[in-house]
Amino acid sequence: MNGGATAAARAHSNIALVKYWGKRDATLNTPAVGSISVTLDALYTDTRVTFRSDLTDDELWLDGCRSDATRVRRVLDLVRGYAASAGHPAGGQHAVVSSTNNFPTGAGLASSASGFAALVVAATGAAGLALPARELSILARHGSGSAARSIFGGFAEMHAGTASDGSDSYAEELQGRSAWPLAVAVAITERGEKSINSTIGMVESAATSPFYPAWLDSADGDLAEMRAAIAARDFTRLGELTEYNCLKLHALMLSTRPALIYWNAATVAAMHAVRELRSGGVPAYFTIDAGPQVKVLCLPGDAEVVRQALAAVPGVHEVRMSTLGPGAYRLE
Ligand code: ADP
Ligand code: DP6
Ligand code: CO
Repeated sequence: MNGGATAAARAHSNIALVKYWGKRDATLNTPAVGSISVTLDALYTDTRVTFRSDLTDDELWLDGCRSDATRVRRVLDLVRGYAASAGHPAGGQHAVVSSTNNFPTGAGLASSASGFAALVVAATGAAGLALPARELSILARHGSGSAARSIFGGFAEMHAGTASDGSDSYAEELQGRSAWPLAVAVAITERGEKSINSTIGMVESAATSPFYPAWLDSADGDLAEMRAAIAARDFTRLGELTEYNCLKLHALMLSTRPALIYWNAATVAAMHAVRELRSGGVPAYFTIDAGPQVKVLCLPGDAEVVRQALAAVPGVHEVRMSTLGPGAYRLE
């Protein structure tokens, strides 16, 4: 093997408080709605990219197994375009991508977010490129919409954008993670992969749900209210809006034909446990992505009581505790 240009990176997963579901342009992977997320310290991907002159195609090794490189190739092609313009040899080479997620893949914990953010930082690093964060976010979006947000730490907002070339569909940091420390408990109810992945599910919702127009129409209002709640550090407002937006997304999923039912019994039990915590005076709010896992936002001083309540829910296999995480960065 020849020692090619190589670099490694770590990117953290994120959980959307106001969610992305639906695409404006499937080829550019631009979202139909904006979104706001928090980056999670406890869940991350480590990726190494090595460009080599002896390869005839890109190779993806995910958690030690050779995997389909189609989506990875799409991002690497764009990175090669930048590298070729800069006169770097990586511009004409394929790459070996070796990646590990420290949490279940394809299960609704946003592995596509941390996975593609880490890929972009490692691949641009290996190709000798120093791109602005906005360009990194756009590159990550081509891999997965949620990945555009994982370039940043703390609170991030993804803009839907209107440009036909996707140049204004990127994320940016709203607030750093130290500005408002929050805790997130992640209740894992199932480690296996979801049966309908996010990319396919959202296309089906757009095509078949009678609620999809209402989902699009109500997005900007939720985004404005969430921005205001974050700026004011109003946890009650942030939490109530997070739950509302999550349940609105799941109403959209349930009204898709055929229905997207991402919940299992433990998912529902965990939602009730969170509402019971609130009745008992603990401010805690749930959110759920395209999968059966329940993430619970709370204040750091309540993290332990929230962890215990979720751990006691039948069907919850594991509770991972997180604080807000940093943006994607190079490892050496
Ligand atoms: P999730 O809820 O985990 O984001 P998705 O269906 O959105 O689920 O995405 C899962 C897909 O993302 C995987 O099938 C794989 O194609 C891709 N993916 C996940 N982790 C990585 C990684 N570390 N590197 C490259 N691609 C990844
Ligand atoms: C429910 O970013 O995984 O988690 O762009 O097709 O890769 P693709 O989809 P993806 O969808 C995320 C959907 C969500 C909500 C969110 O993270 O905003
Ligand atoms: Co995803």
